[in-house]
Amino acid sequence: MRKMILILTLMTALIISGCGLITPASSDKQMPNNKMHSSNEENDPSNKTMGMMGGHGHDMPLDSSTGENELNIPPILASDSETESDIYYTIDAQQGQTEIFDGIQTKTLGYNSAFLGPVVKLKKDQTANITLKNSLDEETTFHWHGLIIDGEADGGPHAVIEPGEEKEITFDVQQDRATLWFHPHPEGKTAKQVFGGLAGLLYIEDDLKDTYEYGENDFPLIIQDRTFDDEKQLNYDAVKDPDGTMGETLLINGTVNPRLTVKQEKVRLRLLNGSNMRNYTIKLSNNEGFEQIASDGGLLNEPVKMDEIQLTPSERAEIVVDFSKFDAKDEVELMMDDETVLLPFEINDKVKVSENELEEIEDPVTISEEIRNKPVSKKIKLSGMGHHVAINDQQFDKNRIDMAQALGETEVWEIYNEKDMMGGMIHPFHIHGTQFKVISINKEEPPENLQGYKDTLSIEPGDKAKIAVKFTEPGIYMYHCHILEHEDNGMMGQIEVE
Ligand code: C2O
Ligand code: CU
Ligand code: CU
Repeated sequence: MRKMILILTLMTALIISGCGLITPASSDKQMPNNKMHSSNEENDPSNKTMGMMGGHGHDMPLDSSTGENELNIPPILASDSETESDIYYTIDAQQGQTEIFDGIQTKTLGYNSAFLGPVVKLKKDQTANITLKNSLDEETTFHWHGLIIDGEADGGPHAVIEPGEEKEITFDVQQDRATLWFHPHPEGKTAKQVFGGLAGLLYIEDDLKDTYEYGENDFPLIIQDRTFDDEKQLNYDAVKDPDGTMGETLLINGTVNPRLTVKQEKVRLRLLNGSNMRNYTIKLSNNEGFEQIASDGGLLNEPVKMDEIQLTPSERAEIVVDFSKFDAKDEVELMMDDETVLLPFEINDKVKVSENELEEIEDPVTISEEIRNKPVSKKIKLSGMGHHVAINDQQFDKNRIDMAQALGETEVWEIYNEKDMMGGMIHPFHIHGTQFKVISINKEEPPENLQGYKDTLSIEPGDKAKIAVKFTEPGIYMYHCHILEHEDNGMMGQIEVE
């Protein structure tokens, strides 16, 4: 019944708005979200209708940040204890309330807090011991996105922790420095739990010299879009889109209308697209470029000059913006290619700054001729939309292993995004438990910033990519589209490594 009413409302809204792509509600871009109108319904269902009519009509505009709130910087998680070789942490998935909008409590989910999570730091060669607690009222899992870890500890849909239960995992940290993240992965419920706020950053550190300081000139930016209802609640079931849920409200680190105060120095921004489905192409408003220093799995061989960067869901990039070139009167913002403002900067030019230094990568990422010339041994076809998404024409089955690969063996995978009648959509393809290398995209060498380690690769409709994949830990791993609704709808397979 509620659905019927919704559809009727939607039809009316469409008739009123002349079936335009831009509904009345979206024209108030300047309006602070805090005083958000009550016309959520107009925004969202029109998107769904587009979904019905236009296939992959994902065009919900995002409200620009007004910059009225200083960006929240997630705390760094304190360890329970630490020895020469080991570190111990407890991570607790919980429910809570958060004042995202002034004076209003929004029900949210978080790790060790009401909303989102702390930054978990691990060092290369350390043994990590993590107690995972589920204080939610439903099952969850703890997945370490981008981490090289055995299948059991990886936290895929098999690793369920029931409400009220806890479990300990232990693993050795093998990778070089990287910006990774963690989030839940319960079968069919990933999108909803991430939407509610479950996502945290995982930093791997190593011995290379690095003078950037967290919260000083090294900031994480967890970029997400959400739709809040009239009561400013996150009602996933009401706004869910089977082809990927978008929202018109931008959150960075959980802050609505964020701004960031920086000094006149080089600033490192660690970007994570933590959205369910939205893609962001990010640039500076003054069109000055920036340098990308790291991709999903760690440092690039050398910094790459960029004018803009595209991030599909779950992708990360570390970029360095040189604010020594600007001063307080300059208007500098991080914005999308359509000029939506993500993050205005306030430049404090009254304080002394340091010269930040970052030692270069120790083992550059290279692909040998032998691997370049290896025949494709695994083919992945991504297809469909909404509830019909599939990998190699099949949907996820927890009890079916789809592929096998030998431990330590490098294989060449070909990932193909099959176009459909509507043209198709980008699928961000992700593999658990490994960092892969991109050999080619449509037979061509990938752009420089994709020549480092990746765990998620954006594949455009009709494109074919070749990647070199090696697992160094055993177990069963997921590979899937990282549009979370696609993953939940079965665009996921399993590979066994032994
Ligand atoms: Cu972000 Cu299956 O992962
Ligand atoms: Cu993952
Ligand atoms: Cu997809």
